[in-house]
Amino acid sequence: MRAAISLGLLASLTAAGAADVIKLSARKPTAPLKRRSLQPTNVPLDDFFLNTDLQWYGNITVGTPPQELTVVFDTGSFTLEVASVQCGSACSNQKLKYDPSKSSTYVDGGQQTTLAFGTGVGVDPVVNNDYVLTVETGTDTVSVGGYTVENVDLYTIVDQTPKFNLDPFSGIQGLSPEAQGLFQGLVNQGLPSLFGMYLTAQSVGGAELTLGGIDTSKYSGSLTYTDLASSGGNWEASASSIAVNGQTSSNLNSNQVFIFDSGTSNIVLDPSLADDANALISPDIQPFSAEPGAYGIPCSKISSLPAVIDFTFTSQSGNAFNLTIPSSELNVGPFDSDNSTCQTLINSLSGTNIIGGSLLKHYYSVWDVGQQRLGFAANGH
Ligand SMILES: *[C@@H]1O[C@H](CO)[C@@H](O)[C@H](O)[C@H]1NC(C)=O
Ligand SMILES: *[C@@H]1O[C@H](CO)[C@@H](O)[C@H](O)[C@H]1NC(C)=O
Ligand SMILES: *[C@@H]1O[C@H](CO)[C@@H](O)[C@H](O)[C@H]1NC(C)=O
Repeated sequence: MRAAISLGLLASLTAAGAADVIKLSARKPTAPLKRRSLQPTNVPLDDFFLNTDLQWYGNITVGTPPQELTVVFDTGSFTLEVASVQCGSACSNQKLKYDPSKSSTYVDGGQQTTLAFGTGVGVDPVVNNDYVLTVETGTDTVSVGGYTVENVDLYTIVDQTPKFNLDPFSGIQGLSPEAQGLFQGLVNQGLPSLFGMYLTAQSVGGAELTLGGIDTSKYSGSLTYTDLASSGGNWEASASSIAVNGQTSSNLNSNQVFIFDSGTSNIVLDPSLADDANALISPDIQPFSAEPGAYGIPCSKISSLPAVIDFTFTSQSGNAFNLTIPSSELNVGPFDSDNSTCQTLINSLSGTNIIGGSLLKHYYSVWDVGQQRLGFAANGH
């Protein structure tokens, strides 16, 4: 959901991934795989909008009989978390909660842990400890888009920090490039190992996740692919330069790795990049001290500012291509603590570069797990 780059989560999942690899390589080849192929399936998405587009989320069911829940499909995390009925007032906004005791297929994992998420949405600041879930481990049957996977690892949320309680959805479904959990279960059943995302502004509507394929009706022109920069479990690609209104700086004009995160609404850059990019938009954009990592400007000054941000990537065929955020994304709304100051698009967090929904909603995006690449085309609206 937000964001969801959790360092703790990353570490524990790396360990789990390594164990999987060992298990697979030790397994003796058995009969040839007889896969029945599953057709791609479209999952409609709702937009959580609060001054700006924050998150896109859709329906899943968990349990037997199925309990309907909503989750953010979050390319910046790995696992499935859903609010449980055990989470009381801390989950008061999550109208749809999962009751494991009413599911005949739930298996209690018997462990409690916390998951910390790294960034927030909208006018939220980027600071630690704002986004922490207290969860219990378990497995259950999960359905999405008409397909069902049994024994999916999941976390039931039994407590959460207040920032999470703003959310209108029940949880988060991670969709990292290391297929795991629900997505891996679908791939095991023969679903092609990729998904397409059509994340749109609320005014456009019709947002959609296509599991196992690409919805060619949702974009124009052709897809341009870039290789993932690493196999480290993030959707990350290298950009050679960032330009703001056609201008750059020595910091901005250098190779940097960017994580593409459908669960982060804005842009997060290392401070050296964020300071330069914000200065190129306006010297009036300044760090907002009450919310470390966030920047703001008097709301009266923001509407006329040009803020076109170009990220230059390299296609698989070796050509430069830009992914561009238009000026309309600059203003993400007034701060809660000072409504005459408007938060601007770019936040800073040391050592972290994240491209979120504010760019993704201007493109159709393809998240190709099997070929470890990301594809982009102009949104067809
Ligand atoms: C989720 O399911 C509910 C109830 O079936 C339905 O009203 C809603 O439109 C669905 N949401 C999306 C985004 O499809
Ligand atoms: C990308 O954007 C930069 C800065 O605006 C521009 O100089 C460059 O020509 C663009 N590259 C492409 C391939 O469009
Ligand atoms: C901004 O905050 C002030 C003081 O809390 C309040 O009186 C005013 O109505 C708010 N304005 C808006 C547009 O929310």
